[in-house]
Amino acid sequence: MAHATDLILSSSSRLLTLYSPPPLQNAHQLPLPPGSLVSAIAADSSDNTQTLFPFLDSDATAPTRLLLLLLKRVVSGVQPTGSIHLGNYLGAIKNWVTLQDTYETLFFIVDLHAITLPYDVQELRKATRDTAALYLACGVDISKASVFVQSHVRAHVELMWLLSSSTPIGWLQKMTQFKEKSRKEGGENASVSLLTYPVLMAADILLYKSDFVPVGEDQKQHLELARDLAQRVNNLYGGRKWKKLGGRGGSIFKIPEPLIPQVGARVMSLTDGLSKMSKSAPSDQSRINLLDSKDLIADKIKRCKTDSFAGLEFDNAERPECNNLLSVYQIVSGKTKEEVMEECKDTSWGTFKPLLADAVIEHLSPIQVRYEEITAEAAYLDKVLSEGADRATEIAESTIHNLKQAMGFYL
Ligand code: TYM
Repeated sequence: MAHATDLILSSSSRLLTLYSPPPLQNAHQLPLPPGSLVSAIAADSSDNTQTLFPFLDSDATAPTRLLLLLLKRVVSGVQPTGSIHLGNYLGAIKNWVTLQDTYETLFFIVDLHAITLPYDVQELRKATRDTAALYLACGVDISKASVFVQSHVRAHVELMWLLSSSTPIGWLQKMTQFKEKSRKEGGENASVSLLTYPVLMAADILLYKSDFVPVGEDQKQHLELARDLAQRVNNLYGGRKWKKLGGRGGSIFKIPEPLIPQVGARVMSLTDGLSKMSKSAPSDQSRINLLDSKDLIADKIKRCKTDSFAGLEFDNAERPECNNLLSVYQIVSGKTKEEVMEECKDTSWGTFKPLLADAVIEHLSPIQVRYEEITAEAAYLDKVLSEGADRATEIAESTIHNLKQAMGFYL
């Protein structure tokens, strides 16, 4: 079943071509609404929007039409493994909260990805709910965004299988995360799903014809694979071949753009400034979890690795810990890089650490309070997730239909 916003998005790409908008923002900047497109449409006195968008009410006001035309889609997700840490928050979730004001957003909890490594079956259910609660506690607003569990929308797995037939094994074997994780799992013993993990991730994204995917730096390679796969499937099955089979023709998938923040894209371990902060690192001292108590946060920062240089500075390759901690301070305090540089250039570690701890605690406290409120009412979260899955299923079904039609299935 086609959804109105699908129509809007597919038609809006025609309009985008008509008005030749500026190229998409590059992967390192969060985009702003394409203002030049707004003015181009607003300046169009011929009013051909009705011809291009016959499904819009003829009396829809110009601002309403413009708003719908600009509704680009953003998707992202986090695995429910271990607890969500400052890296997940600063690299991804915090940016989702900004994006939901401008775009149509869908945020999912990727439980199917969480089973690609050995996991605790007693924990998965709770971790999935906790992750959803944390999304909301961090500011994801269900009046703007759809929040759901990946496995509740079956189309993710179906699309993954359909995409798998077009994915060369070599593309998967060269993924850095696969190489690292499969080595840890003992090579041949690693599960097939660890290899095909990026195909599922591509399905998560392509299913919703997503324009943008806000992620941390470590997901960039997976995003590139999703883009390559979308192109490949468009070439193999889209266009005139699809039209001959009764389809719309043209591209089946949109080519998604990664959105990687300038600061916070790679938050490093507290115990080693050269390793990424990670849920799977054996020592809990290496990360700050969003639900860590005030005392624990203060203690972890007090004991974190530093150096013996005088003063504090950004971007000195010999001081990875210093750069990391200043960057964290910059984001959680809401200050600019210049302000932090000025404030900290002559500061000692002994003075800076309590400053950083206070700023982190102050930033995370309201999130922790909201988390308690949300989890206190079990039925609320179930309702949110069920409504989110319904909305997602509606969009997902139209993509599955298109692809199956283009691939020649008997529908
Ligand atoms: P996951 O669960 O490992 O991480 C979730 C998000 O957090 C980011 N991230 C970090 N950012 C900055 N510094 C860090 N130290 C850090 N560690 C993690 C990740 O880049 C990610 O954005 N495969 C993905 C989940 C996924 C997904 C998707 C994401 C599945 N399908 C579709 C976007 C769209 C993953 O395992 O993320």
